Amino acid sequence: MVLKVLISDPLSEDGIYPLRQAEHIEVTVDTGLTPEELAEKIEAFDALLVRSQTQVTREIIEKAKNLKIVGRAGVGVDNIDLDAATEHGIIVVNAPDGNTNSAAEHTMAMIMSLARNIPQAYHALKNKKWDRKKYVGVELKNKTLGVVGLGRIGAEVAARAKGQRMNVVAYDPFLTEEKAEKMGIGYGTLEEVLAQADFITIHTPLLKETKHLINKEAFEKMKDGVQIVNCARGGIIDEDALYDAIVNKKVAGAGLDVFEQEPVTDHKLLELPEVIATPHLGASTVEAQESVAIDVSHDVVNFLSGGLAKNP
Ligand code: NAD
Ligand code: MLT
Repeated sequence: MVLKVLISDPLSEDGIYPLRQAEHIEVTVDTGLTPEELAEKIEAFDALLVRSQTQVTREIIEKAKNLKIVGRAGVGVDNIDLDAATEHGIIVVNAPDGNTNSAAEHTMAMIMSLARNIPQAYHALKNKKWDRKKYVGVELKNKTLGVVGLGRIGAEVAARAKGQRMNVVAYDPFLTEEKAEKMGIGYGTLEEVLAQADFITIHTPLLKETKHLINKEAFEKMKDGVQIVNCARGGIIDEDALYDAIVNKKVAGAGLDVFEQEPVTDHKLLELPEVIATPHLGASTVEAQESVAIDVSHDVVNFLSGGLAKNP
């Protein structure tokens, strides 16, 4: 029997090679579908592969009478209704570490760009302004980086920041003194980390517990002039609270790769010169995209062949 796989977001063609190779699997790539179009099509498919654009909602899952597995070519599964999938006996797999390195590198690029005003100075120079005074930056050496969420990406960022001679302190509910010591970093409660940091970087998943984790009260606990980076998920930082904190000069700069609503181009945060931003590019490298697509493709092939998925 031929099993049908729908790929509804752009994935690396090299990465989906395991699916293309499988004799009993037929692959359809159809990206940019509206939710209505996806709802209409989904019944014919045994597997669905997505990145972060496709919203796999309860409505989609209820229409997906033959769906057995959803593969997320990336880490965050917040675009998939996990409760609905479980109720319908559909397994969800992701690619937990294929983009770790790329996301960590993007985070460091944000921190360094913020410290040296590189995007703002570039923009000015392109507009024929040679302004050396306005864009005086700060060194990272001896500054303190606060890492909120010390999982795969947080830990990679911490290691890189140490290479920049930064002091690193982290908060993660699963971080122990022993682990922090081994990594050569400090640790503390969220409040302690926020209070000590010159730069803060967020690396938690978006969960009920982390929605607006960085809110008005959290900003009040930070140092004046702190700079903050979010390459994890929109919604972990309360965007209104961040806007107020920048306008009130509490926060000197923010580097945002992710937003509560995506895609977004009209946003009050994007109008502030203190905000630098990228359109959810943390995992957008050739290497990461190939790697995450290979990982989920292998899991989907194995599962549809009666085997076990590695990353359920
Ligand atoms: P991970 O699961 O390895 O690490 C997440 C860490 O967050 C865990 O150690 C967990 O204990 C910690 N955590 C959970 N709740 C917390 C809380 N309330 N406070 C502090 N820490 C908490 O995940 P990861 O691979 O490191 O990914 C982290 C985030 O980055 C995810 O949201 C993921 O979706 C996002 N991400 C974004 C991009 C991008 O393109 N911008 C790329 C990859 C991953
Ligand atoms: C992720 O959670 O892995 C990121 O959102 C990366 C992505 O798929 O863009």
